[in-house]
Amino acid sequence: MLVMKEKLDIILSSFSGEGRELIPVLQKIQEEMGYLSPEAMLYAAEFLKIPPSNVFGVASFYEQFRFSPVGKKIVMVCQGTACHVKGAEKVMNEISRHIGIKEGQTREDMEYTLKGVACIGCCALAPCITINDDVHGRLTPKLIEKIFIKKPVNKKTNE
Ligand code: FES
Repeated sequence: MLVMKEKLDIILSSFSGEGRELIPVLQKIQEEMGYLSPEAMLYAAEFLKIPPSNVFGVASFYEQFRFSPVGKKIVMVCQGTACHVKGAEKVMNEISRHIGIKEGQTREDMEYTLKGVACIGCCALAPCITINDDVHGRLTPKLIEKIFIKKPVNKKTNE
């Protein structure tokens, strides 16, 4: 908890502690910690001098906020109309097969979280996905394999 408090103090140091900063504060905490834990939200309430119920209420209202840890790489598979027509379901299944988790799950090693999302605004590239901030479009099984299968590192022997 002490480590978390220290981390939160650093995260919150750029804010003045006024209630109107609630959303930017929650965004910053999520950006730095990956999600909003109950402890972090209580700490934010204390910092902003507002009731915890307000913080929990606002955080749960907005879809952008997450309440459980996510993987280092968040894979969002677009399921909008253009991507659906161009095989979004196959893309989801293929990725799921490669990284070993189903939609909505996070891998045990915290490497990947896999999600389906509505149109991500790159319909010309359908079918497409995002991995964190990167967009990958015109996906084919071969391209998916290239993105998700790491080639084994060549081991050099010292002879
Ligand atoms: S439908 Fe997939 S990017 Fe628009």
